[in-house]
Amino acid sequence: MRDAAELQEELLRWYDRHARSLPWRVGPAERQAGIAPDPYAVWLSEVMLQQTTVAAVKDYFTRFLALWPDVGALAAADDARVMGEWAGLGYYARARNLLKCARAVTDDWGGEFPDTAEALRALPGIGPYTAAAIAAIAFDRPETVVDGNVERVMARLFRIEAPMPGAKPLLRDRAASLTPAARPGDYAQAVMDLGATICTPKNPACGICPWREDCAARSAGIAADLPAREPKKPKPLRYGIAYVGRRDDGAWLVERRPASGLLGGMLGWPGGGWGEVAEDLPPMAADWRDLGAEVRHTFTHFHLRLAVRVARLPAGAEPERGEFHARLRPSDLPTVMRKAHDLARAELGAERGR
Ligand code: ADE
Repeated sequence: MRDAAELQEELLRWYDRHARSLPWRVGPAERQAGIAPDPYAVWLSEVMLQQTTVAAVKDYFTRFLALWPDVGALAAADDARVMGEWAGLGYYARARNLLKCARAVTDDWGGEFPDTAEALRALPGIGPYTAAAIAAIAFDRPETVVDGNVERVMARLFRIEAPMPGAKPLLRDRAASLTPAARPGDYAQAVMDLGATICTPKNPACGICPWREDCAARSAGIAADLPAREPKKPKPLRYGIAYVGRRDDGAWLVERRPASGLLGGMLGWPGGGWGEVAEDLPPMAADWRDLGAEVRHTFTHFHLRLAVRVARLPAGAEPERGEFHARLRPSDLPTVMRKAHDLARAELGAERGR
């Protein structure tokens, strides 16, 4: 294997030719021409990209940037509006922390993101990964940025056969041993791009990899098998009930979920808790009818089967829980609640407008 300096140089040469064009990215040519990335855009993209694919993030990122072009604008935004725009992206704690962070940067930092990983790390919603990514990409600090792509590349390049997640510290050390002092921001994005486009989980395209002659797993013929994983624990199955009620004037009966916990702060359909058996807690007495069809949705730690009950509710209805929303946009709902809406809509009539 070549030494670190040679590997860095080779990868950066590859990145100069093959960098993905991404809406939040200042590409290598622009960067060389002296164009600096906007730390706000880098931060926004990195928060969105936590546990979420580039393909899923692109449109959300573009829309957020159009609605709230700088951190001050986002800090001043209405919470419910931001949660609505985040709907569908998942991991909703990120959206709540996004607002907290925007307000902290505006109030405590005069609207300028701090430029070290350490100071970034102290902000809401910014963990070690995101702090390193912003410091490297926005401020060209030589931080080691380790996401799933980088772990995979390191496991293969250095033939680390210990299973994940136990191998993480070792993979981080190997990644750190390659982090360059020159162009660390481009380098961080280059390793991610390599992992996303060539050193892919399945069928890696080793033949066109800039590190193909250096890769220990490739010479052993086991690149596609790394990183090894402990067998996955099966996810438990939970059950719940969603009560989808609609008033004759078209308003939907929805409930904002508590700020913390799963889907925290998002709109949803009232109903009881989810568990091995569904808790049955209608929001009001009405002629609820079970749709028969159920929503299936998978969260990080469990699968959910959500029965859907629908009712037409009279004018003047006074629910025990939830409130009527005259202008509900289905796109304001988190995906699981949106699926329940889509099932119920056939019964209760199409929503008006978006
Ligand atoms: N995944 C997370 N951050 C990324 C970035 N900056 N570029 C590409 N993929 C990423």
